[in-house]
Amino acid sequence: MAYKLGIIGTNWITKQFVQAAHESGQYVLKAVYSRHEDTGKQFAQPFNVDDVYTDLEAFYNSGINVVYIASPNSVHFEQVKAAISHDIHVIVEKTAFSNPTEYAAILELLHDHPNVRLFEAARHIQQANFKVIEQQVAQMEKIAGATFVYEKYSSRFDDYLAGNEPNVLSRRFSAGALTDLGVYPIYAAIKLFGAPKQSHYFATPLRNGADGRGIAILRYDDFDVTIEFGKGSNSHLPSEILGRRDTLVIGDIAEVLDVTYYDDEGAAHQLSQEPLANPMTTEAVKFADMMTNPVDTAEDYQELLALSKTVNQVLFDLRQDAGIVFPADK
Ligand SMILES: NC(=O)c1ccc[n+]([C@@H]2O[C@H](COP(=O)([O-])OP(=O)(O)OC[C@H]3O[C@@H](n4cnc5c(N)ncnc54)[C@H](OP(=O)(O)O)[C@@H]3O)[C@@H](O)[C@H]2O)c1
Repeated sequence: MAYKLGIIGTNWITKQFVQAAHESGQYVLKAVYSRHEDTGKQFAQPFNVDDVYTDLEAFYNSGINVVYIASPNSVHFEQVKAAISHDIHVIVEKTAFSNPTEYAAILELLHDHPNVRLFEAARHIQQANFKVIEQQVAQMEKIAGATFVYEKYSSRFDDYLAGNEPNVLSRRFSAGALTDLGVYPIYAAIKLFGAPKQSHYFATPLRNGADGRGIAILRYDDFDVTIEFGKGSNSHLPSEILGRRDTLVIGDIAEVLDVTYYDDEGAAHQLSQEPLANPMTTEAVKFADMMTNPVDTAEDYQELLALSKTVNQVLFDLRQDAGIVFPADK
């Protein structure tokens, strides 16, 4: 039977997720939460959904059994906490929580609600082309280093330049370049290479103290991963993983559209396949499978949760290194 889906946050990303969820055949949108009834109704209407709530408690009591949360990062914690307390599965957008203290409290709550599954929606690591990267990395004799780049001019940067403070560039919302875009390459690095031994972040601050762009370095036993990301410019550089003579080149580390392996002789081998039209479909299918088959997928689920927790810790360590404090840290 399809999961009864509720959503929080009515921006474009939620629409994309609902479309992916419906495409998977595993979910049906049943309820919409918004701070404003009009906005909620506007979101719900094209999906023929009548259940619109502005009260979180009523929303969680509406009969949904999974919630997708795409509100600003700083409000995820309270919304996730309430969902778990109602024994509702959670798919929360990245970055899931502001810091390790919040994460620890959520894990404790999950312990008391063992049937609830919590997923951080890191869509790119679920995609078929990311599995191709993992397979190729496993076959490379030596990893000598990697450079991942994800730098995109944000649609909200105009607003920042006009003198305002959009949520996504505000520490108040546990946001900035690291948590908004850096999280993609950092997820990729940790999924591929594990937790780093050390991490450093050289951040370029905005006038409000949030990071507008930056360079993070993750140090492993015998190689470093350099990660460049930002929200105020467009980079067209690809990402690459260096072997010795061989190289794996990734066209876009967040969309994972194009993966080419250059062998020791420099010959190019195209490894990527045509991606699905909706980049959230694969994760929607995977999460539904994990909710439906908790015993068979227990190991996979614990790995995913551990990865999410490690990413959270590394993001926090990087912020500490750069001296970036969120109000949620206090
Ligand atoms: N996976 C991806 O590709 C992807 C892409 C973009 C964003 N994201 C993630 O999705 C989340 C939302 O990002 P966004 O850029 O869409 O954020 P946003 O525009 O700032 O807010 C998203 C929604 O949250 C609600 N909201 C706004 N301000 C709020 C506040 N002060 N308190 C409570 N709710 C508020 C609004 O819905 P209502 O007005 O209906 O309440 C809004 O539509 C973030 O975690 C972000 O990192 C993921």
